[in-house]
Amino acid sequence: MTRDSSAPSLIVGGAASSPRAPLPTLPPLALYIHIPWCVRKCPYCDFNSHTASPVLPEQEYVDALLADLDQDLHAVYGREISSIFFGGGTPSLFSAEALGRLLEGVEQRIPFADDIEITLEANPGTFEQEKFVAYRKLGINRLSIGIQSFQQEKLKALGRIHNGDEAVRAAGMARQAGFDNFNLDLMHGLPDQSLDDALSDLRQAIALNPTHISWYQLTLEPNTVFWNQPPVLPEDDTLWDIQEAGQALLAEHGYAQYEVSAYAQAGRPARHNLNYWSFGDFIGIGAGAHGKLSHPDGRIVRTWKTRLPKDYLNPAKSFQAGEKALTNDEMPFEFLMNALRLTAGVESRLYPERTGLSLESLAEGRAAAEQSGLLQVEPSRLAATERGQLFLNDLLQQFLT
Ligand SMILES: C[S@@+](CC[C@H](N)C(=O)[O-])C[C@H]1O[C@@H](n2cnc3c(N)ncnc32)[C@H](O)[C@@H]1O
Ligand code: SF4
Repeated sequence: MTRDSSAPSLIVGGAASSPRAPLPTLPPLALYIHIPWCVRKCPYCDFNSHTASPVLPEQEYVDALLADLDQDLHAVYGREISSIFFGGGTPSLFSAEALGRLLEGVEQRIPFADDIEITLEANPGTFEQEKFVAYRKLGINRLSIGIQSFQQEKLKALGRIHNGDEAVRAAGMARQAGFDNFNLDLMHGLPDQSLDDALSDLRQAIALNPTHISWYQLTLEPNTVFWNQPPVLPEDDTLWDIQEAGQALLAEHGYAQYEVSAYAQAGRPARHNLNYWSFGDFIGIGAGAHGKLSHPDGRIVRTWKTRLPKDYLNPAKSFQAGEKALTNDEMPFEFLMNALRLTAGVESRLYPERTGLSLESLAEGRAAAEQSGLLQVEPSRLAATERGQLFLNDLLQQFLT
């Protein structure tokens, strides 16, 4: 497939960017690969995922992903990748053969770090034991399994294609295939969910001994079925109780919260996600994938790819749909909306290292945020207070220009 890499892409705000000193060292580089198909669209989901046809265009899509990567290569020459994340959609719909060809193609283009973390999102009901064994052989060393709930009526309400038993079996299959590092995705605040229901889901997840648990509160997102026909969700008091009791249960079992929705056993936070939250760099390939790259000349540029799979696969269209160089004024918000998601925040020195700006550019917002009790008063760290974590949007408002 040949594509015009110089096809006009939407450039927003680039010209407004004032010069910035080159970064002393470029941040770690990750790779996100988006697989945009699912067996069926879930009614709460606003991710770029589309119901798959009976035959997936796997080979065509792998070709497109590698061609897409080729067009980003000039910007990362000489760097290595520290992590790869196959996200979706449902990446576990893809065969090991297709993913093997893709990983091989990626490694021919960009060297892998010796200790690279390679994660793949897998949905119960879309794989069998052999598939996990084959994935593991490819060098995929972390799975993120989308469980959401173990309770049948909750899974039904969420429109999931699997039942609770399949969810439990998925974790067993992961372990048996040699994945000692896997995450379980769970949601809470589900339709008609009681405190006991939510804690029962967490207990079942903990019993499977994953290294990581992502525990998201269900949100109603625009352009979803749930947005247009909202289900009955628990009262605010119940949501609060679930949050408090759930966090305590996770902590009691050795899962330390390190981000708004992420809990991990010691030494097991997701390195790929940590890189996002510490304003690291990432290439995004695949339909609708986002990227962020720091350039040696000091520019920090966000990119996004063509969203609809049929357009992404259309050789007449360019892969990239747009890009935007961040301006100095946008930098505090852009940096902090990531960093302040981390429970412990980040060391203050990371801000100049990753943005090329002095800490002085944060001073005004920082003073206001400290005064409102949302930001910790601690010169060497940028971290939300407990209250700030609950009101993250209010905290970030202080850094909007
Ligand atoms: C990229 S998504 C989907 C991964 C995988 N396809 C699945 O469904 O299991 C990652 C996670 O985001 C969470 N999620 C998706 N939509 C959500 C919503 N509206 N509210 C809260 N969490 C959501 C789910 O836990 C999901 O597993
Ligand atoms: S399976 Fe996952 S990505 Fe696909 S529609 Fe459901 S929540 Fe979204």
